Amino acid sequence: APDIPVANITAHLNQLQSIATSNGGTRVSGGAGFTASLNYIKGRLDAAGFQTRTQPFTLNGRTHTNLIADWPGGPAGQTVMLGAHLDSVQSGPGINDNGSGSSTLLEVALALSARNPALTKHVRFAWWAAEESGLNGSTYYVQNGGASGVEAYLNFDMTASPNPGYFVYDDDRTIEGHFKEFYTSINVPTEIEVEGDGRSDHAPFKNAGVRVGGVFTGASNTKTSAQAAKWGGTAGQPFDRCYHSACDTTANVNSTALDRNADAAAHVLWKLAVGGTQEPED
Ligand code: PHE
Ligand code: CA
Ligand code: ZN
Ligand code: ZN
Ligand code: ZN
Repeated sequence: APDIPVANITAHLNQLQSIATSNGGTRVSGGAGFTASLNYIKGRLDAAGFQTRTQPFTLNGRTHTNLIADWPGGPAGQTVMLGAHLDSVQSGPGINDNGSGSSTLLEVALALSARNPALTKHVRFAWWAAEESGLNGSTYYVQNGGASGVEAYLNFDMTASPNPGYFVYDDDRTIEGHFKEFYTSINVPTEIEVEGDGRSDHAPFKNAGVRVGGVFTGASNTKTSAQAAKWGGTAGQPFDRCYHSACDTTANVNSTALDRNADAAAHVLWKLAVGGTQEPED
């Protein structure tokens, strides 16, 4: 699988930060900062050859919009899907939550388009609206037939917490195993994700019977001394002290965690949709 260049992800985060700054410090769903974020990602995908579409829906009198991007190729009806919510809360720019997952998926998508490998599965990416108000974008997508043909869904929500943990969702054993295999290969221990259980966009897919997985670096829970001993960082402090706050800016990102989780995403995507033998591990 490709080694995803973290500098490129950071460049996307800088774009999302400047979008928030020009739109009242937020990228909340239904607002101008969200629309500008969507247009930035969509523009990059369109230029790379993705088939993109927007999926608008109405919630409490406002329009919210999901962004869906299909890479042409792979068997129809056997889809591996990767998703991240693109909206922030009203109170901040949402750079770790969830510019991190959103920018990671953009860069993984661009790596897929650049390499253009022969695919054993069709690959689709999604950037969800209105996650913060209750998983609304992903729920709308699944309620309108979106899970049809989706064999696996990988979720990326908060992948660069400033005092990071390395948490792997324990929903599907095969997917969990692929993530753990990557982390073993770089000698980073992981733990099972518990803090956010069921509270992100994988939940509607799981409830629809889709195999799901993902990674997470922690939110408001406190890092224990045992966790600081194995991961570094600061014991007794939250994984993300700026969770859902105005200080969730580009200063609120751990680049090592961002890089590792992006490389993990590429590893698992390649395992699921390209096959494990096409190229050696980076
Ligand atoms: N979805 C939560 C939020 O956006 C946090 C979370 C991340 C939950 C990852 C579960 C998994 O605030
Ligand atoms: Ca990398
Ligand atoms: Zn959030
Ligand atoms: Zn989130
Ligand atoms: Zn491997």
